[in-house]
Amino acid sequence: MNTPNVWRCDLVPQFLAYQQELMPAIERVLNSGRYILAQEVEAFEREFKAYVGSPHGLGINSGTDALLMPLWMMQLQPGDEVITTPFTAIPTYSAIRHVGATPVFVDIEPDTFLLDLTKVKAALTPRTKAIVPVHLFGNAVDIVRLREIVGPDIYILEDCAQSHGAKVNGRMTGSIGDAGAFSFYPTKNLGGYGDGGLVTTNRAEWDQVMRKKRMYGMINKDEFVMDGINTRLDEIQAAILRVKLRHLDAMNARRRELAGLYGQLLDPQFITPQAIRPSVEPVFHVYAARCKSQRDELLAHLERAGIQANVYYPKPTTRQAGYQAAFTRQFDLPVTETVCRDIIALPFYPELPQETLRHVAATVNAFFHR
Ligand SMILES: Cc1ncc(COP(=O)(O)O)c(C=O)c1O
Repeated sequence: MNTPNVWRCDLVPQFLAYQQELMPAIERVLNSGRYILAQEVEAFEREFKAYVGSPHGLGINSGTDALLMPLWMMQLQPGDEVITTPFTAIPTYSAIRHVGATPVFVDIEPDTFLLDLTKVKAALTPRTKAIVPVHLFGNAVDIVRLREIVGPDIYILEDCAQSHGAKVNGRMTGSIGDAGAFSFYPTKNLGGYGDGGLVTTNRAEWDQVMRKKRMYGMINKDEFVMDGINTRLDEIQAAILRVKLRHLDAMNARRRELAGLYGQLLDPQFITPQAIRPSVEPVFHVYAARCKSQRDELLAHLERAGIQANVYYPKPTTRQAGYQAAFTRQFDLPVTETVCRDIIALPFYPELPQETLRHVAATVNAFFHR
């Protein structure tokens, strides 16, 4: 593609909008001489866990590690099963794979694109130890209902990489399950200018152990009381995220407004936006919709018009070649397969000008009416 006129996600306008607050925050860190696990990370952990409504929050280096660390806490044994969705970013599954668990994939709902909770019960076995629902595209899985389905003994790890600020039945995603995994990758609803992640958890013991494990199992500079790795949120990212956290609700409100506008403008005869249940307050990480036909032709049409659209996700994670080694069986995922063939993500970010959105919607409609 030549350089598009309209990007799927343009990150520069957000930097410019908050530059006056961001630059002093970055300079404050540089002037402090403390760049790893110091006052900014501490403050951000405090502020973010309060925002989510979780008793514990631990800053680490990515969303992938935010999934990995709670999975590590579960002490899974070979053959233990972890249920998840096949319609997600690959890191959801790569974390499960990394701890050696056997993945079990349950199909999604055709309208919300979320894990189909009606199919979870049939996937439970005596080896099921955990379930990782994904609050995809800023939509939210009903975790309370999921808990009723799986019972008290199965860990629920919420993948919140795309759901900062999303609520279900009035409760924030990341505060309901045993743990929540957040990513601060630059494009996320709350994004830094590098990698970053955070684990929320209701389990004080997990928080204590993960605090040691994120720094090689260290309790002081000479004592290492358990094995660990290096997975730390850095001070500069934490300072940036503290600034942006203050604006997250406003940015999410703007996302809802823009999503509403797309919903009004796009011709429902040809394109169906992601459904949101009445219990959910979404945060529209991306604007995803299903095309009734000709998805690939629409993508080409938009490209010719200088509009960048993407496909999240072009295939189920079960069909990614590098990740199949742990499969013990085939999975039948007809809904995911179909959605992968007809889904499209249109240009979308909080600072997207309304005129640009109107132009995108008109270009989409013109394609179908030609
Ligand atoms: C659903 C989901 N889970 C996990 C991740 C992993 O986050 P990170 O890229 O910060 O490791 C991402 C981000 O790509 C994601 O979208």
